[in-house]
Amino acid sequence: MSKKNTKRILVTGATGQIGSELTIELRNTYGCDNVVAGGHKRAPSEKLFQSGPFEFVDVTDKQSIETVVKEYEIDTIYHLAAILSATGEQDPQLAWSVNMNSLYNILEVAREHKMTGVFWPSSIAVFGPSTPRLNTPQETVLTPRTMYGTTKVAGELLCNYYFLRFGLDVRSVRYPGIISNETPPVGGTTDYAVEMFYEAIRKKRYTCFVREDTVLPMMYMPDCIKAAIDLMESDASRIKHRASYNVASTSFSAGELAAEIRKHIPDFVCEYKPDFRQKIADSWPTSIDDTVARKEWNWNPTYDLASMTRDMIEKLTKKFET
Ligand code: SER
Repeated sequence: MSKKNTKRILVTGATGQIGSELTIELRNTYGCDNVVAGGHKRAPSEKLFQSGPFEFVDVTDKQSIETVVKEYEIDTIYHLAAILSATGEQDPQLAWSVNMNSLYNILEVAREHKMTGVFWPSSIAVFGPSTPRLNTPQETVLTPRTMYGTTKVAGELLCNYYFLRFGLDVRSVRYPGIISNETPPVGGTTDYAVEMFYEAIRKKRYTCFVREDTVLPMMYMPDCIKAAIDLMESDASRIKHRASYNVASTSFSAGELAAEIRKHIPDFVCEYKPDFRQKIADSWPTSIDDTVARKEWNWNPTYDLASMTRDMIEKLTKKFET
């Protein structure tokens, strides 16, 4: 395939929870040499490092992004680097600085280099206590109480502005909590769902930092990756929402997750000791209405609680055996 008809992609935050798996999938889809993994603090896994180009990118420094963009003739960016909700509450200034400056830099570089596409994940954190919590609609009140959520609302508006004002093809989804078994998440409120699996397999015990009855929308990594790629592959004429699509997969309480894990690991014990993250979880929806994404670009998740749990336990068990 010539360079002209294939994408040349940069993934920022490529060593993170989503990036480490999305980068590999993008390499499988578009060719290994066409997908540059951009990392900053975390070292890349062997798999990520060996399967294609890896570059150091500081997303808060426009020059650093631009150097890689020029060197690899990048035309599409998946901008994943961010500070998540829990870390963001501990250091709101850092969250604003990293999340907003990086998005602005990415959008500016994409505009200046006339790129064909940008993907940027928003989050259920854009919603707040005054948003309807059950089946949260696509168009609704966005008054989050966290700095992370505030940067996501501002980011959605900025993406929409770049589309309207400069015609930049920016696309975005509001991810729920993402559950995965490759790279653990860092600093998020929904991280307990991932930790519960790891600890159930390693120690058969877990102390959960939210209450047992805390219900949040969640998604398994294969569906998370599918959402990003399906949205980016859709014909531009179908994308009517630039300030981010609701996407949902499944919702469950921490207690329901523990019970589902117990079907596979009967002696698993879960205790509940809520900390400051409970307040963040309580300000987010319990379920999401994603009919607009389903209609406009055929969003259709694959996993539910039972199939996700089965797959997570199988994969993690293998991982800890080796
Ligand atoms: N998983 C994220 C967090 O908990 C939500 O987007 O911060």
